[in-house]
Amino acid sequence: MPPVYGTDASQSESDLLRFAMDSYIAQPENNSSGMNIIFTLKEKAGALAATLKLFEEKQINLTHIESRPSKTHPGCYEILVECAKNSDQTSVEQIIELFKKKAESLMVHNSVSNLVHTDDAIPWFPKKIADIDQFANRVLSYGAELEADHPGFTDEVYRARRKQFADIAYNYKHGDKIPRVDYTEQEISAWRTIYNKLISLYPQHACAEFNYIFPLLQQNCGYSPDNIPQLQDVSDFLKDCTGFTLRPVAGLLSSRDFLAGLAFRVFHSTQYIRHHSKPNYTPEPDVCHELLGHAPLFADPDFAQFSQEIGLASLGASDEMVEKLATLYWFTVEFGVCLQDGERKAYGAGLLSSFGELQYSMSEEPEISPFDPEVTGTTKYPITQYQPRYFLAQSFADAKNKLTSWAATIPRPFQVRYNAYTQRIEILDKVSSVKRLVRDIKGDINTLEEALCKLRHM
Ligand SMILES: [Fe+2]
Repeated sequence: MPPVYGTDASQSESDLLRFAMDSYIAQPENNSSGMNIIFTLKEKAGALAATLKLFEEKQINLTHIESRPSKTHPGCYEILVECAKNSDQTSVEQIIELFKKKAESLMVHNSVSNLVHTDDAIPWFPKKIADIDQFANRVLSYGAELEADHPGFTDEVYRARRKQFADIAYNYKHGDKIPRVDYTEQEISAWRTIYNKLISLYPQHACAEFNYIFPLLQQNCGYSPDNIPQLQDVSDFLKDCTGFTLRPVAGLLSSRDFLAGLAFRVFHSTQYIRHHSKPNYTPEPDVCHELLGHAPLFADPDFAQFSQEIGLASLGASDEMVEKLATLYWFTVEFGVCLQDGERKAYGAGLLSSFGELQYSMSEEPEISPFDPEVTGTTKYPITQYQPRYFLAQSFADAKNKLTSWAATIPRPFQVRYNAYTQRIEILDKVSSVKRLVRDIKGDINTLEEALCKLRHM
């Protein structure tokens, strides 16, 4: 089945967005259509003609029709039809009922472009940054509840300390300053052991971006062998660099909740430190893992954007898709390696906070595969031993582009965009919201044109 109008499979931009942009340009504000129906059909000869015949039989005038190869249903075409405003409502409803049975998928927008039907139930997700308060305490474990094999399990002092940290996180609300903590000498001693070993490995094994940022953290956030940095200081630094912020968390969040935070450039961070008896081992993320492994790269614009893309893709996605995204997160943000000047370098926090695995990951022992979201997202992994396989990205920008292309295939009936001014998620399921996006893009293009002009005359 050939495309009906102006699209082909090689185009990378969103064709529906283009449709919306065309509508924006071609139609006056109040000339809205009656009903937009987007349905997906299996590709076979005559399928489109037979479908259009249904509209003719119901005497529904179509004011616009457009088709494109489906990104979410292989071997299918998506067809968008715009029914005339004066169409008989009963006939339109009959057509919609028919498509609910016959089409592979169906979306319907009414005359003011509200999404009125979609096949899938959409899981709740936060729309504004303060919504994170609603799930930040939905942790899988809390404070002093340690597993029997935890090094601090029988240490009552350690357990009481863990509860103090859990309470800080539990009482935290968006907009609060993260309470500062006076770490004990015993806690600083554990930090010092890890810190000194890791900083001796970073110059050789960490990626260039990490090695560029780390001295800035030493200068600005109190990173030193004798001091555990305060989350608020690190958060302030990251916010100045990329808009990322840290938020204290009492325990492990579900993948869906954790990834949703990333959509707002919020990273949920623990504040406690591992048990002093085993400074080389922790069964869970602790402040060493967060501040040495994760925090530095959130100051890098490309890495920050890559991390946010994973978060945005997770909003409203199915459980199956969230699991794939969590796996992608695991193999990139946690255990990613990249190629720089022909050499393998670490950018994953699980490597940059573990001197044992950092050295192992740079050896010939593990399997190294190219980063490919389709493959990476479905690869099984162990969580209690070194990874047998790592995925190599050419660069953060390359990984982000691959992830963005893959995320476009996620079967989600709407597109989202993060508005950094309002710290809100905008759902692009209305012409008005797409118009706003078009306006912003036009503004950015004007800025770009003027900048290029000025560069030419320099
Ligand atoms: Fe982590």
